[in-house]
Amino acid sequence: MSVLAGRRVLVGVTGGIAAYKAVYLCRLLQEEGAEVRVAMTPAGTKFVTPLTFEAITQHTVATEIFPEKEFVATRHISWAQWADLCVVAPATFDFVGKVTHGIADDILANLIAALPADRTLYMAVAMNSEMYAKEAFQENVETLKKRGVRIIDAETGYLAEMMQGKGRMAEPEQILECIINDLRAQMPWTGKRILVTAGPTRERIDPVRYLSNASSGKMGYAIARVASQLGADVTLVSGPVTLETPRGVQRVDVTTAREMARVVEIAWPDADVLFMVAAVADFVPRDPADQKIKKSEATASLALEPAPDILAHCGKVKQPGQLLVGFAVETSNELAEARRKRTSKNLDLIVVNNPSTPGAAFEVDTNVVTMVTAESEEAFPLLSKEEVAKEILALAYRLYRELNVAADSNS
Ligand code: CTP
Repeated sequence: MSVLAGRRVLVGVTGGIAAYKAVYLCRLLQEEGAEVRVAMTPAGTKFVTPLTFEAITQHTVATEIFPEKEFVATRHISWAQWADLCVVAPATFDFVGKVTHGIADDILANLIAALPADRTLYMAVAMNSEMYAKEAFQENVETLKKRGVRIIDAETGYLAEMMQGKGRMAEPEQILECIINDLRAQMPWTGKRILVTAGPTRERIDPVRYLSNASSGKMGYAIARVASQLGADVTLVSGPVTLETPRGVQRVDVTTAREMARVVEIAWPDADVLFMVAAVADFVPRDPADQKIKKSEATASLALEPAPDILAHCGKVKQPGQLLVGFAVETSNELAEARRKRTSKNLDLIVVNNPSTPGAAFEVDTNVVTMVTAESEEAFPLLSKEEVAKEILALAYRLYRELNVAADSNS
């Protein structure tokens, strides 16, 4: 699957003859599975009509800040939020100058001003070679590069004036390649299969009652979301929670520890990594009743039997090169317990937290964790669950690479 599949790309078209190549760029992006919208400067519309882009993208093209007939007062915000990345092709001398100096007097410049800081902006520059050589332009480009804008440099070749010179826009295929290479580098887990479990399990006592715990599933869902953003092929085995499935993640719903064990034990042999985040029941009712237990019939005790320890099983059958990550919630002796569980369940990494630490409870959006491996123990400060997920995936990636370098050299 292409790294662009499902990505939302905003293509900006400014007023240069290379605008015609932007039509083909849109098509190439779509062939890679990207969703494309186009915004044009007024000068851009002189070279190619918005209708052409509308036909290609099957979407309205933004050409004005204040169009008369539509309600678009906040479009520069909503479209900028929508985009995963933005590519301006062509980016003219004038437009590069505008973006450098924070001018936002057309819809495209407006959208770029409103683009969230974590979205990459690409500018495929195109102009006459005299303009290209101007200090003003060269200095602007240096400034933009320092700010993290990806400048796709112009090429030497025939310009519109039929003379040779540097200034011709890179071909759409090259622009696409640059974007794909960047995305691949930002997605180290591409091609890897990651299994994540999340949420609680529910163990039936009778048709209306069950044993469960306070897990919200938020930590596991954050790991699944971030792993997918980093390129992994993610399967999320989820206990009953009220969270939305992260984009691109395949979700399998289960209720009980036994159901979770069945799904995970089948999937684990084909996975590269398992993050066992779920709060799985340790014990389950031995004889769940078929009918609701009446108060008059109830006894003071409930007979329980052990639930399968999914993680311990996965640790036993782990193959060289597979990475196994466990989670532990402890209210005392966190580190000693984490070390013990890491060794006894054959884990490469265990992430431990204490729910009585402020900001580390089940239902909140933050966590305070310590990560324990065979070689290191690192305590992290209060972070959002999303940030914790990023830290866990970064450490897991280092461990996974070490394991696989070792596995490769042993074979
Ligand atoms: N786990 C599991 N199956 C179970 C219980 C736990 O796979 N039946 C996994 C959890 O998903 C977690 C890890 O084991 O990744 C540690 O869970 P925890 O409940 O802390 O460990 P236990 O071995 O059950 O230890 P204890 O309850 O005695 O602290």
